[in-house]
Amino acid sequence: MSAEDGLKKVISHAKEYGFVFPSSEIYDGLSAAYDYGQLGSELKNNLKQYWWTAMVRMNDNIVGIDAAIFMHPTTWKASGHVDAFNDPLIDNKNSKKRYRADVLIEEFIGKIESKINKDVAKGKKRFGDDFNEEEFRSTNPNVLRRQQKIDGINAKFKAAMDADDLAAVKALIEELEIACPISGSKNWTDVRQFNLMFKTELGAVSGDSGVVYLRPETAQGIFVNYLNVQKSGRMKLPFGIAQIGKAFRNEIIARQFIFRMREFEQMEMQFFVKPGTQEEWYNHWKEARKSWHASLGMGDENYRFHDHIKLAHYADAACDIEFNFPMGFKELEGIHSRTDFDLKSHEEHSGKKLRFFDPESKESFIPYVVETSIGLDRLFLAVLSNAYTEETLDSGATRTVLSIPPAIAPIKAAVLPLIKKDGLPEKAKEILDLLRINHNVQYDEKDAIGRRYRRQDAIGTPLCITVDHDSLNDNAVTVRERDGMTQERVAIADLASYVDSKVGMHTLFNK
Ligand code: GAP
Repeated sequence: MSAEDGLKKVISHAKEYGFVFPSSEIYDGLSAAYDYGQLGSELKNNLKQYWWTAMVRMNDNIVGIDAAIFMHPTTWKASGHVDAFNDPLIDNKNSKKRYRADVLIEEFIGKIESKINKDVAKGKKRFGDDFNEEEFRSTNPNVLRRQQKIDGINAKFKAAMDADDLAAVKALIEELEIACPISGSKNWTDVRQFNLMFKTELGAVSGDSGVVYLRPETAQGIFVNYLNVQKSGRMKLPFGIAQIGKAFRNEIIARQFIFRMREFEQMEMQFFVKPGTQEEWYNHWKEARKSWHASLGMGDENYRFHDHIKLAHYADAACDIEFNFPMGFKELEGIHSRTDFDLKSHEEHSGKKLRFFDPESKESFIPYVVETSIGLDRLFLAVLSNAYTEETLDSGATRTVLSIPPAIAPIKAAVLPLIKKDGLPEKAKEILDLLRINHNVQYDEKDAIGRRYRRQDAIGTPLCITVDHDSLNDNAVTVRERDGMTQERVAIADLASYVDSKVGMHTLFNK
């Protein structure tokens, strides 16, 4: 399946089963805006809960807040977003399509990387078990030549961006002979900077004095509350403040479904540390976040770290955790060592001291910050695309199954009476009431049992609980497991703890 087909299938499955709908679809939708449906919102809530539990509840020194989306406009001057939150854009004169210049260059590099991967795959095939990938990558002349080319492009691009030299960025696009994917032409405009913040006006005030922005990141709501939380919670360094909330960016090209949207949700945590310890905490959070992802069980090979070449204005170190989406490896989460940039700048702009007084050393200083920032919608797409599987069964029949990690599946179990009579529905509903206190469970009595299993497979329900005639006598039910389709008989008296042991959120923390 090509990457494009893979993503298309996920999008259409998401719509058909109530995970994600195009926004305001009856009016033909709005570009890059999506609504989460009845199952999508359950999945999204479970992802939030898993993140919040791992970050806030499991760490004594991390607390959570919920700040307003609108903030004083000076916030964005202080944070650097008014002056520097720009994307370099370029238009193709023939197709009239607009692109991000950096993305055109990244995609060009991506093509060279896939040639390297093909070289590696060929080497693997040729040398079999004797193949040493590390050695191959560091000695094979083709790989070395291609890697040298990538390094050269990256160096030129970094130099141009660091110097804010947009003419040099255009020259690089021309030198690489990058063509517009739509028109095939290399007829480009100059590169210009485009600010990504959405502006609106507060109340009845119009003109510049009333301008407010929709926040482009949740992080600033945390920085401006640093002192409130530190004092009211009597927090000692190191400590963290976490938040989940909407962010807005007027992306030049918003595409690839929910991967890049103009309205999206972030789950961010700012960890305030003593200056000088930021490197240690940066490494700590890199590992902690990697383990968090690994516990979802979506395959370690589907994640990789990508160190930033061009650091943002606030960072002294930064990397992305990339995930293998249907479109290839792309950023899922960012981990940034933000120095004292934000608090220092808010101090300067607000005139309020944003310091920590260390009772031991009797010193007062501005803490440094290590941030973890994950896009909830991207995590949702990672889970959904990784889960989507089309299988051919031994019988020759096919089934579509969403192998969502059980603890975050929207529906944890379906309770199914084998037939719609003989007291089986009543027994099934008793079981439903028993389970629904702790988990989101569903009752379904329509159609033959096989069809009901398929429906539950398609929405990722990990367990199907079938009530049959024997259940009325032996007080037991058949539990079918989604992925292996194995079945086992479980006493109704043990069912609540059985289901919890398979799908409870705690199962993720035991890994
Ligand atoms: N506070 C730091 C910050 O916002 P970022 O790398 O710009 O850093 C963090 O964004 C995460 O937010 C990204 O890793 C990504 O998952 C998500 N994100 C950013 N822009 C997005 C967009 N337009 N649509 C969906 N998710 C986005």
